[in-house]
Amino acid sequence: MTPSLPYVNSIPHLGNAVCVVSADVFNRFLKKEGCESRFICGTDEHGTRTEIEAKKRKMDPDKYCEQMNQKFKDVFDFIGVEFDHFGRTNNPVNHEITQSIFKDLYDKGYIFDKELTLLYCEKCKMYLADSYVEGTCPHCGAEDAKGDQCDNCSKFLEPVELIHPKCKICGSVPVVKRDMHIFLDLKKLQPKVKKWLLSNKNLKDDVKNFSLGWIKEGLHPRCISRNLKYGVKVPLKGFEDKVFYVWFDAPIGYFGATAEKYKDWKSWWQSAQHYEFMGKDNVPFHTIFFPAMLLGSNENDNKWVLPTNIGVNQNLNYEGKKFSKSHKRGIFLDDFMKLDIKADVLRYYIISVRSLHKDTEFSWDAFLGKNNNELVANYGNLVYRTLVFMSKNFGCVPDVAVDKSVVDEVSEKLSAADKFYWDLDFKEALKLIMEASSIANQYFQHSAPWDLVKTDKDKCSVVLRTCSEVILMLSKALWPIIPSASESVFKQLGFDKFDFSAKIKGGQKLGKVKVLFKKFDESMIDKYRDKFSGDLSEEDIFNSMDLRVAKIVDVKVHPDAKKLFIVDLDVGAYKKTIVSGLREHFSVDDLLGKKIILFSNLEPAKIRGVKSEGMLLAACGSGKLGLLGSDDKIGERVYAKSCSTPAKSVSYDNFSKLEILVDKDGNVVFCSHILKTSRGKIKVSGVGKGAKVC
Ligand code: 2FM
Ligand code: ZN
Repeated sequence: MTPSLPYVNSIPHLGNAVCVVSADVFNRFLKKEGCESRFICGTDEHGTRTEIEAKKRKMDPDKYCEQMNQKFKDVFDFIGVEFDHFGRTNNPVNHEITQSIFKDLYDKGYIFDKELTLLYCEKCKMYLADSYVEGTCPHCGAEDAKGDQCDNCSKFLEPVELIHPKCKICGSVPVVKRDMHIFLDLKKLQPKVKKWLLSNKNLKDDVKNFSLGWIKEGLHPRCISRNLKYGVKVPLKGFEDKVFYVWFDAPIGYFGATAEKYKDWKSWWQSAQHYEFMGKDNVPFHTIFFPAMLLGSNENDNKWVLPTNIGVNQNLNYEGKKFSKSHKRGIFLDDFMKLDIKADVLRYYIISVRSLHKDTEFSWDAFLGKNNNELVANYGNLVYRTLVFMSKNFGCVPDVAVDKSVVDEVSEKLSAADKFYWDLDFKEALKLIMEASSIANQYFQHSAPWDLVKTDKDKCSVVLRTCSEVILMLSKALWPIIPSASESVFKQLGFDKFDFSAKIKGGQKLGKVKVLFKKFDESMIDKYRDKFSGDLSEEDIFNSMDLRVAKIVDVKVHPDAKKLFIVDLDVGAYKKTIVSGLREHFSVDDLLGKKIILFSNLEPAKIRGVKSEGMLLAACGSGKLGLLGSDDKIGERVYAKSCSTPAKSVSYDNFSKLEILVDKDGNVVFCSHILKTSRGKIKVSGVGKGAKVC
C-alpha cells in the first residue's frame, strides 16, 4: 500500500493530503478485513528544487532532506496517518535498487543513449531540467507548461519542446546546448504495458481508458538522465557525471522505503498485491512509466508486482482557488496542527469530498456543515444521547436481546459500505455509514426512551441495548476514517481498547461518557477563512467588496462620541445601521434622504459601543470631503470592470490597500475603470482630481 511519495520541498496542503489520508483509510480498512498489509511512504527527495532549497539554507541537500522528512512524519502523524514506514528516496538502499533495476533494463536492451539538445541558463549556470523551465505547451497552447509535463493536457514534454521557454529561476531566455543522455525505450516496452493494462481487472474504466489512450497515440522513448549532483548516479561508463531523472528513482522509492525497514522487502514486492493512491497528475507515471520500468526489468512478466488497483483523486482546490504557500492561501498541514480542530474532522471532511471524477474544493462553509450537521448532529449525537441516557438510568449496557430488525437494517448498509471501501470509493462508503447512523438516531427518537423508562423499562432496555450494538458497529465501520473518535467510543462503551473482534456483553459497565465532536461557530470559521485567504491582489479585494446604492433614512448623534453619527440606511432588500465620522463635515440635514454608496460587506465592528455594519464611501482631498452618490435605484450594485460575487466580509485593512481616485471629470476610478451601476456613473462633488476614496 503506497500513496505517492510527496516532494520533500514543501509541507503538503490539504489537497496533497487527500491521497495519503485515502491510503491510510484503505490500510485501516484492510486491517478490519483481517488482511496483512504494509503501508509505505516517504519523501521524494531528488531534483533541482532540492539542490536550490538546500543551497538557500546553506545546507547539505541530504541533511536538509532529513530535516524535512522528519517534518513530514510529524504532520502525517498529527492527522492520524499510521505508516508502517516513512522512508526517503535518498536512502542508499534506494540508490542500490534503482541502479540494479536500471542494469536489468540495460541488459535487456531497453536503454539507449542519444545526443540531446538541452536548455541551459547562462545566468544561473545550469541545465534547466523539468520544473525549472516553463513555456507554452506545443500540444495545447497552455502558457505555463512545465519542462516535463503540461498540467493542462497532461502530455509528457521535453524542455526543448516548449515554445518561448524561460528560466524559472531568473526569467532569462535559456540557450540550447548538446549533451549525451540515456533513454528508456518506452516505444519498445509499449506492447508489454498494453497487455498489462488490458489484463488488469481492477483499474477503474476512466483510469484504464486514459492510459490506453496514451498507448494508442504511441509511446516515445523518455530521457532518464539529468545533469545534477544530488540524485542516484547513473551506473554507466561515460555517464558518471549524471543522475537519474527523479521520476525514475521515485517510484522505485516504494521498494527502497520498504527495504529500509523489512529484510523480506523483495518477496513482498514480488508477491503481494499493491494498492496505490495518488492525485490525477501522477496517473501516467504509475500506469505507463513505472509499469514499463518494472515489466522491462522482469525476467518474465511475473517478477515485480504491478499495481493491483490505483485510487485516484481529482484535485482539491481551496475556496475556488489554488493552494499557494507563497501567497499564504489555503491550509497546509503544519498550519493545521496549530488550529483548534481535531484531525478526525479533517479526515472526515477530506473523505466526504474526495472525488474520483471531478475537481472539488475545500470550503469553510462546507467544512462547518459537515462537522455540525453530520459529525455532531448525527453520529456524535447518537453516541452521546445513548450513552448518557444509559449511564444515568442503567449504569451499564442492559442484558437483553437487541431489536434485530434495526440491527439488520444497519448491517445491510454497512455491508454495502464495505463494497465501496473495496472499490476505493470511500466517499460512498462514508455516506452509507452515516445513513446507518441516521437509522439508529431515528429509532432512538421514535422509541422515546425518556418515556419508556417510566412506562416500560424492559422495552427501554431493548432500545438502549440495540443502540449500543449499532454504535459498536458504526465505530468499527468508521475507524478507517475517524480512528480517534472510534477509539474513544470503545472506551466509553467500557472496552479497554479498540478491537475489531470486540463484542458487547449484557451488563457491561460503561466508561466515562464524553462529547465526541464540538459544534463550530460561524465566528471561528470566519476567523480561519480570513487567516488563510492569502495575499489578495488589489483587484481581488475590490471584486470581493459589495458596494450598493443606499438611502440615508435616519441620522442620529452618537451618544458617546462628538465626531460620530449613527446612520440608518435603506439598501432595498435590507436595512443597515452604520457609525460614521461625517459629523465634522456634514449636518444631519445635509445627509437625510441622500443616496450614497454603501460598502455593505465591510467587516462589522463595534464603534464606541454601537455596532457598525458597513461604511459610506467618501473621497477626500485638500482637506475636503465629498460623498459618493448615484441616482440609480436603491440596492443597485456598484462595480468597476464587471460585477463579481462579493465575499462574505472584507476587512478594513484590505480596503485601505486600495487606490480609488477621483479623476478630472469627477468620476471615481479604480484600476482605470470608472465606478458605475448598470445605469450610470457614480458621482462625487466638492472634491477635485486626485481625491482618494477612504
Ligand atoms: O507528484 C509528486 O508529489 C511526486 N513526488 C510523486 C512521486 S510518486 C512516486 F513515484 F514516488
Ligand atoms: Zn536562470
